[in-house]
Formats: sequence, C-alpha cells, structure tokens
Amino acid sequence: MRILIIGSGGREHAIAWAFHRSSTPTTLFIAPGNGGTHQVGTNVELDISRAEEVVRFVEDTGIELVVIGPEQPLVDGLADTLRRVGTPVVGPSAAAARLEGSKAFSKDFMQRHGIPTAAYRSFERDQLDDALAFVRTEGAPIVVKASGLAAGKGAIVCETLKDAEAALMDLLGEGLLGDAASTVVVESFMHGEEASLFVLTDGQDFVLLPTAQDHKRIGEGDTGPNTGGMGAYAPAPVMTEDLIREAVTRIVQPTLTGMQSEGYPYQGILYVGLMITPDGPKVVEYNCRLGDPETQVVLPMLDCDVVQLFHGLATGTLNSVNVAVHQGASACVVMASAGYPGAYEKGKDIHGLDADNTDDCIVFHAGTRKTDVGWVTSGGRVLAVSARGQNLKEALDKAYGRLSRITFEGATFRRDIGHKGLERTDQLL
Ligand code: GLY
Repeated sequence: MRILIIGSGGREHAIAWAFHRSSTPTTLFIAPGNGGTHQVGTNVELDISRAEEVVRFVEDTGIELVVIGPEQPLVDGLADTLRRVGTPVVGPSAAAARLEGSKAFSKDFMQRHGIPTAAYRSFERDQLDDALAFVRTEGAPIVVKASGLAAGKGAIVCETLKDAEAALMDLLGEGLLGDAASTVVVESFMHGEEASLFVLTDGQDFVLLPTAQDHKRIGEGDTGPNTGGMGAYAPAPVMTEDLIREAVTRIVQPTLTGMQSEGYPYQGILYVGLMITPDGPKVVEYNCRLGDPETQVVLPMLDCDVVQLFHGLATGTLNSVNVAVHQGASACVVMASAGYPGAYEKGKDIHGLDADNTDDCIVFHAGTRKTDVGWVTSGGRVLAVSARGQNLKEALDKAYGRLSRITFEGATFRRDIGHKGLERTDQLL
C-alpha cells in the first residue's frame, strides 16, 4: 500500500515506524518528514499548507492512504480536500476539527451535550473589561485559554489573580497570540491527575488505543514552563478499567453522537485530554490528532497491523480490524536542546545514534538533520527514546539505558518520566 504521512515530528516518525513494521507491505512517503522518517520511507518536500500541492502528489504517486499528523492542516481542511478526490484519509473534516481548533466551539459543544468539563465563559477582543471583572469575581487559580491554535502556548494556568489579569491583558489587550486569541476562554481550575485517551473512529465504530500520560513541563517534579511534552508512558495506571468505562459512557460516546447529530460526523483520531477529578473524568481539551510524544509510546504498544487499523478507520471498516495490545508498558524520554522551550541553538553534533532500533527500543527523531559527517540537532525537541517492557519500570530502564549512550552539547531531559505511574503501581523503589 502506498501511504503518505503528513508532518515532521517524533509523532510522524513513530507512525512511519509502526507502518514499516506492519505485516502489510507498504511504500511510505512522509511530507516533509525528518531525519528519522528518512530511514523508513521517502521524505517529500511538499508545502503541506497548499492542499492542491498535496492532492497533485497523491494523484501522481498513486497514494492509497493519507495520514495527517498535525492539527493545523486538519483545521485548514486538508482531509476534506483529499476526501473530495476520493483518497482514504486519517483525519477529521475541518468542521469536526473545530473540537481542537476552537476552544470556544468545543466548550459550547460539551455544554450542549452534557459532557463533563470545567465551568467556563468566553470573551471576545472587545470584552477585556468583562473578562477582567469575571476573573476578579471567580478568583484564582483559574485557566485562561486562547480559543484558536497556538502551538501549545495558548493555555495559561494562572495561580494568582494578578497572573490571570496579566494573561487577559496580553491575549485580549495586546493581541499577543494574534487571531488565535481573538476569542479567549476562561475556565475553572480542575484538581486531579491528567491522562490522555485516544479514540480511533471511522464515523460509525470506534476503538480505544492504550491510555497514556504526558509530561508537559520542562522541569522535574512538573516545574518550569510548558513544552510540547518531555516524555510519556502507556498505559496510564490512573486510568483504571472503571474510569475508562466511565470516560467512554460520559465523554466518548456523547462526543461522537453529538458530532454526528450536529452534522459533523467525526472520522479520524480523537485525543481526549482528561482530568481525573474527585467527581470522575472531565475533559481538559480535545485534540483532533494523535499526541506527541504520546504516539511514541502508544503505537509501540500495538501488537497488530497498524496499517490495517488506520486503513480501516479511513475506509469505514474499523469493525473488521483486530486490535491487539502488548501486555506490559512503554515509556519514552524526550531529549531537547539547551534552552528549549525558549530560544535554543541548532547544529550540535549528535553521537550514539548508530545502534539498531528493535521492536522493544526505538529512538524516534524530531529535530535532527543528517549531514555528510553525521547527525546534528535541528529543533527544540530533538529525539524521543522509547522502549517497552513487561512493566513500566523495565520500559523506563531500557529507555534511560539507551538514552545514556546518546550525547549532544546541552542535551536536556527529565529523569522522572513515569514516576506517577511507578508510584501507583508500587514499582518506585
Ligand atoms: N503531548 C501533547 C499534545 O500532543 O498535544
């Protein structure tokens, strides 16, 4: 099967890797791809923001399946354009991708369908005074979110009223995030532990992938600024079987039937960011794609043919696909450039990448570039070292063991990935 994967991160390398080890013979193209995807397929220099350029490549190359990794092309309608020309695609329509692309839409949608989430109010650019009055009434902690896509910078958890006022002045007053924050959602702070739930749906049926937990802050002990994600593990022990069932009944099913009844049937991957509160699971946010770095732990947990799974999603035949999951755990640790998530330098030599990947230990590339003399860094998040084991401790030991043999100047990583999971399963010795 000839497959095109859209994107250039660790997530897209993980998707390409899972397809490459699938029992379905594939020819993989990745646009634009990265140093890692180049090892399992052909990187293609396409401008993915130009749908007509993608369609031309799909038609000229005889592509039979397109997987769209990042949110921006989904929100821009790339999946709609591809479906119009008859190409099976993994990714929702632009109308359905509003669940991620517009926080104001998703909060209103959850309210219409009684889906548990934090209480909220939305404010437009000309309502700064109303928004300030609202946070002064509500008090802190409180969360201020840009409604639109803001590359992970749009959700500000405000510990004090002063922080909340400053966030509103920045977003609504100064226009700091531009159009992404022309509407701002202010919502109550939820107490609890976060977990990620991944739903694959073909518009009729759905399957769940293993749950995962991400580590968003740069510093150990969940300190410092937010990042795209510094590591992850799967499954997340906080998501017990009972909680998964509750999340399916109270969140996943009403979301899918709600989208259907409103005329935007969801066909793609729905990533539900959950807070496990004392009142049960509540939605922090929806994403219309797989997570990064959660994909780097969730796909290695699948002992089934991932090409068939994604093709089933794209062709409305998910009910005929078997999902088999490894009965252990997986973990990944992200290695980042010094300074990330702020300014960082590129072009640092990377050593220790020559060891072969195995089914149980894989180095996924994100910000790397191959030069004539070897690998160099080319991004903030550089690599995700991923491993699976019989349990979380074994997976973490393998990942950190492999990571210890990789070096580059200023390499930054967290040493406490998976600690909450180890505590919950009594593996923290
Ligand atoms: N890891 C968080 C995300 O992909 O949005």
